[in-house]
Amino acid sequence: MRKPIIAGNWKMNKTPAEAEALVNELKPLVKDAACDVVVCVPAVDFAAVKGAIEGSNIHLGAQNVHFAASGAYTGELSADMLKAAGVEYVIIGHSERRQYFGETDKTVNQRVRAAVAAGLKVILCVGENKEEREASYTDALVEYQTLIALNGLTEAEVADVIIAYEPVWAIGTGLTATDEQANETIGVIRKAVARKYGSDIGDKIRIQYGGSMNPKNVKGLMAQPEIDGGLIGGASLKAPDFSLVVNYDK
Ligand code: 13P
Repeated sequence: MRKPIIAGNWKMNKTPAEAEALVNELKPLVKDAACDVVVCVPAVDFAAVKGAIEGSNIHLGAQNVHFAASGAYTGELSADMLKAAGVEYVIIGHSERRQYFGETDKTVNQRVRAAVAAGLKVILCVGENKEEREASYTDALVEYQTLIALNGLTEAEVADVIIAYEPVWAIGTGLTATDEQANETIGVIRKAVARKYGSDIGDKIRIQYGGSMNPKNVKGLMAQPEIDGGLIGGASLKAPDFSLVVNYDK
């Protein structure tokens, strides 16, 4: 069976002091979680969060990684830098990166390969916007985004990647995909992985839902057979809310 994984994506929020306070409040609230718990924080917060989570069941994640080992890439961070800072997980291909920072399927694939080669656990984001859903492009698009991003990985490497299906129209809008919509599209992604890498890998790979997931809708979404967790934005910024999402099964 697939172990669920709930990750917070803090986006561009929290100073180191605020990050430390949030994690300290969160620790006792999620200590009995049945799922993997991750917080993907801004790079300036790595040290504070790394110190605060020591000895707890919370894991440290980043929100992006560059594909080169080092060099003239102003503002970027390499996979080895993240590893040295104690980062275990990294979000790649978030729609905000694709939308505002020129991230393409090609650069997403390059980043995924570099992260996996360095031993980071990847949370790969895919998802359609409103126009694409209305034009019935959702299935073709998420299949394409997924397969091109994984290109070049071995089967074993693919099995360890976590995919986050995040419909762009549901991010930060309060609109959530219905339980059935999320389940169906995640099923499409799983089948695409199974077709290319075999049904064992399709059965093993964990696929999260993301997009206005919160304490109220988490139970319904997590009851769906294809949904293995969540990538949480707004509701991950307050410890009580995030802990209710993490403890959806309690
Ligand atoms: P919200 O939960 O704020 O909609 O954000 C989702 C998201 O983008 C997580 O990566």
